[in-house]
Amino acid sequence: MSEPTGAARRRGPFQVGDQVQLTDPKGRHYTFTLEEGKSFHTHKGAFPHDELIGAPEGSVVRTTGNVAYLALRPMLPDYVLSMPRGAAVVYPKDAGQVLAMADIFAGARVVEAGVGSGSLSMFLLRAVGDHGMLHSYERRADFADIARNNVERYFGGPHPAWQLTVGDLQDNLSDTDVDRIILDMLAPWECLDAVSKALVPGGLLCAYVATTTQLARTVEAIREHGTFNEPAAWETMVRNWHVEGLAVRPDHRMIGHTGFLLTARRLADGVEPPLRRRRPAKGAYGEDYTGPGAKSAEGRDSSSRSAS
Ligand SMILES: C[S@@+](CC[C@H](N)C(=O)[O-])C[C@H]1O[C@@H](n2cnc3c(N)ncnc32)[C@H](O)[C@@H]1O
Repeated sequence: MSEPTGAARRRGPFQVGDQVQLTDPKGRHYTFTLEEGKSFHTHKGAFPHDELIGAPEGSVVRTTGNVAYLALRPMLPDYVLSMPRGAAVVYPKDAGQVLAMADIFAGARVVEAGVGSGSLSMFLLRAVGDHGMLHSYERRADFADIARNNVERYFGGPHPAWQLTVGDLQDNLSDTDVDRIILDMLAPWECLDAVSKALVPGGLLCAYVATTTQLARTVEAIREHGTFNEPAAWETMVRNWHVEGLAVRPDHRMIGHTGFLLTARRLADGVEPPLRRRRPAKGAYGEDYTGPGAKSAEGRDSSSRSAS
């Protein structure tokens, strides 16, 4: 049985063309590509790439200045944080949430926009696998080029499940019977008609947005659209810990904010979204509220459009 795309480059002894991540005694990382006859230079001496070619991962190399470096292949979370970027990437902590909470399964038909630098595309491709489908839409040709290079370098060539289209999702989305749609863009609410049309009944929309205003506008627009169930919204915070003898405590620094995630499921055609059990919080849709469905928001259950 042939290996899944990219798997052969993730295990076994180091080969020419592999990415190598070195860790120095202070825990700093350096990444390079293995080439026959080349040397890796540091301010404390150099060592030949040939020392690593054929060596197992986890080997230690010493520079001419006798400094030891641990050599491993970068994992996908390392790779996406060090690869060339066009737009800001989805951080690994959020990519993990997308894979789990958007229920990305092997063989799934997935659509994604925008592609940016291709970070989320790679996590999605590994999850859908060679027999799934990921169709990614990106409005900027220059970002699409960066993403394609990053993806092909990571997988060692084109991925059989990946299609990349340059253009706005809402104008170009041509796929049907889509299981999952992931939006990472400024204005996800502009894509709801196209997304609703493409998703299978029970399919899932997941949006990743950076600000509370985008979050509110997207959630209200999904409710107003009337073809989705009640959206769920959340964020995750990851706090690393320092663990050393009696000094066991959270790190002093952390990534305080990346973005918010939300999900909603596509209803079957022709059904009314079920009534929300809870009344809106007092004042939630008061006279200061000007978002989608502003006038009818208090009585939104009867005013929403039905799925068609
Ligand atoms: C934050 S970046 C995406 C980052 C990407 N998910 C990653 O992990 O590397 C947002 C991208 O969405 C693109 N974009 C914004 N609106 C779009 C639309 N309607 N259709 C397609 N792409 C869009 C932008 O050009 C930008 O590259």
